[in-house]
Amino acid sequence: DQGERMEEEKRVKRRIVLVPVPAQGHVTPIMQLGKALHSKDFSITVVQTQYNRVTSSKDFSDFHFLTIPGSLTESDLKNLGPLQFMMKLNQICEATFKQCLGQLLKEQGDHDEVVCVVYDEYMHFSKAAAMEFQLPSVVFSTTSATAFLCRSVLAKVNVEKFLIDMKDVEMQDKLFPGLHPLRYKDLPTSAFGPIESMLRVYSKTVNTGTASAVIINSASCLESSSLARLQQELQVPVYPIGPLHIAASAPSSLLEEDRSCIEWLNMQKPRSVMYISLGSLALMETKDAVEMAWGLSNSNQPFLWVIRPGSIPSSEWTESLPEEFSKLVSERGYIVKWAPQMEVLRHPAVGGFWSHCGWNSTLESIGEGIPMICRPFTGDQKVNARYLERAWRNGVQLEGELEKEAVERAVKRLLVDEEGAEMRKSVVDLKEKLEASVRSGGSSCSSLDNFVNSLKTKNF
Ligand code: UDX
Repeated sequence: DQGERMEEEKRVKRRIVLVPVPAQGHVTPIMQLGKALHSKDFSITVVQTQYNRVTSSKDFSDFHFLTIPGSLTESDLKNLGPLQFMMKLNQICEATFKQCLGQLLKEQGDHDEVVCVVYDEYMHFSKAAAMEFQLPSVVFSTTSATAFLCRSVLAKVNVEKFLIDMKDVEMQDKLFPGLHPLRYKDLPTSAFGPIESMLRVYSKTVNTGTASAVIINSASCLESSSLARLQQELQVPVYPIGPLHIAASAPSSLLEEDRSCIEWLNMQKPRSVMYISLGSLALMETKDAVEMAWGLSNSNQPFLWVIRPGSIPSSEWTESLPEEFSKLVSERGYIVKWAPQMEVLRHPAVGGFWSHCGWNSTLESIGEGIPMICRPFTGDQKVNARYLERAWRNGVQLEGELEKEAVERAVKRLLVDEEGAEMRKSVVDLKEKLEASVRSGGSSCSSLDNFVNSLKTKNF
């Protein structure tokens, strides 16, 4: 009997529904999660909004893709800004996602059973549908455990007092109680809207409510104390299973990658190049871009700079950079609109990464043993930058007004000075720990197995 039951179990394909936020930094890790779960014998359905869809390519040929009808578009994002866009998306998708999931369940055959909905923490409308159909729902966080913990702490602050504290310039450099080494200014507040709206959004993302578990794209060797505290705070199991890009790399770039920069890197000396990229959303003021250009110029080091069209808001692409700078670019630099970042970080010519410290970029840089210059733009990037400098000691944070002298100094500290060599040692040490954590027997690998077992034994 038991044999028969096991045979039957094998015939039924368990399906997991993934709900990504339509933004590069969120799509990348959730698709990697999809790959990891697929390798554990689950079928994957990705339910997406109309904006920024991943297309079914050869890398995801086994995945099934659905679109939530009537969801928001690119012009909505432009008009509303990211914070309001996410609030509105959650309002309008609750009913349509229910229909979508209902249809999927109706169509499922005898040998295909939806077992769980895994949603990006910012797509919390998903949990109402999962509850309606009595499916377990799991929150997937694309940020660090520490950033999640911060949001959880912020969701409970006395709002009036917090607003006063945040306006007080002197408070900014003080440590925030209970979140060492973070200062007030490192808290994940948003550049995209007022603190009150941000707190409202955060309280929704950390409210695990009816969810069965939380998956975090991190590893205990990076954030053991934040993970332990998070486990205490939340009422449900927390599974740190990252970094997913090592365990299950899955290319899902929404923009076209300019691979010509690899040929350029091939001509550079080992560890000589500063790679600069601010991820998919961060913006840069013209005056900062100009200071950066001169700082890079004066550092005498080669550089590969990703400038997304529109990321310097005063110009379409690079028009606001000084004209003399373009001569220098042809001699010692290379500018692209979007790079194959993993390949760049893996390239032997790259010695440092100037980053906005998005969580994916942070994990990718540590995973390749590259020290960083940290210039966070908003939100969780500030938390990551502080950790890179103070906890992991493989980053230099540039704070305050950006000036060319500081840029030049930071580049030299990383690529030329002894200090850079020290930072490289500590990041290589961390890289090895990260690799061990996703290998068989490692903490993230075991955590993923525990999650999978809970799903298979319907233990949620
Ligand atoms: C944002 C937040 O910053 C991040 O912390 C959060 O967890 C998810 O959303 P983003 O600002 O885009 O993401 O940065 P990041 O998390 O670093 O993700 C960017 C991704 O784009 C990385 O995986 C990176 O490899 C990729 N990338 C970036 C490219 O492939 N090419 C580029 O030129 C630049």
